[in-house]
Amino acid sequence: MAPRNRPLARHAAHPGHPHELPGRLVGRLRDGALARFGTQLGHPHGVPGRLVGRLRDGALALFAAQLGHPHELPGRLVGRLRDGALARFAAQLGHPHGVPGRLVGRMLNRANRAATFEAVDALDLAPGAVVADLGFGGGIGLELLLRRLGDRSPTSAAGLAGGQVHGVDQSVTMLGAAARRFRREIETGRLALHQASIECLPLAAATVDGAITLNTLYFITDLAGALQECARVLKPSGQLVVGLGDPNQMARQRVTAHGFRVRPLAEVTNALLAAGLEVDEHRPIGNGRGLFHLLVAQPY
Ligand SMILES: C[S@@+](CC[C@H](N)C(=O)[O-])C[C@H]1O[C@@H](n2cnc3c(N)ncnc32)[C@H](O)[C@@H]1O
Repeated sequence: MAPRNRPLARHAAHPGHPHELPGRLVGRLRDGALARFGTQLGHPHGVPGRLVGRLRDGALALFAAQLGHPHELPGRLVGRLRDGALARFAAQLGHPHGVPGRLVGRMLNRANRAATFEAVDALDLAPGAVVADLGFGGGIGLELLLRRLGDRSPTSAAGLAGGQVHGVDQSVTMLGAAARRFRREIETGRLALHQASIECLPLAAATVDGAITLNTLYFITDLAGALQECARVLKPSGQLVVGLGDPNQMARQRVTAHGFRVRPLAEVTNALLAAGLEVDEHRPIGNGRGLFHLLVAQPY
């Protein structure tokens, strides 16, 4: 066979392994280099030995530095990942949105059920009361307020005796979840949902008997303006229950470093006073890291 046909013949002999020969060659070269490198590591000698020695010394120096600050580099990476996750979680707490927002809403319902129960209990309500949850999140306050008002419809034979619940939240995701969950109550007029800000409530002046707002003030920049707005919608006999985590405990939590406004209780009480609302009851709930405060305020 003519010499020019030899490569084709070899290819035909190994049709499934077109690169078998060069591969074997590369393998041998690699094995040889590794063997020489191994020998150099065990017993550095000559010019390559000096190079290997320097590489080894550099690696040992890096290792020693890591021993001095064991997790500096991985630690910084973990810190950045953690901070990113906390920032995203804080943003979700302040304004739940999307699928994670719905999960946050459910988590809030579980975590804040007891405090919300106490807040609703603190309201002194008569039949036919008009009540509101300002920043209702996952809707636990709406559920408990509806239950507190009883099962009667405002358009029933008893007229407005059943009262009405208003839910206000800025989050479209929370509005959607509440609209699905409380479809019947909305249809019967017992519940009205509003996508709005607490700083600009879509409710007429002096129409609300009792309002609750829990875990919302951390996300409000204009505290004075928001509380004045709450005071505006309350009847002269109305009540506002503000629920806040203990500021000292909250300041220790990593998540609050990401945009929360953690205010001393005295600052909130003074802002309420400036808005025309006097705190006539302070109900602490829980203890330790779970310490929570309810401030029950009335127009004076
Ligand atoms: C941390 S969640 C608390 C939800 C609920 N009150 C609870 O305690 O479980 C805060 C909620 O307040 C709402 N919110 C925050 N700032 C608001 C504002 N300025 N106006 C209306 N809603 C607001 C958010 O969208 C979110 O649903």
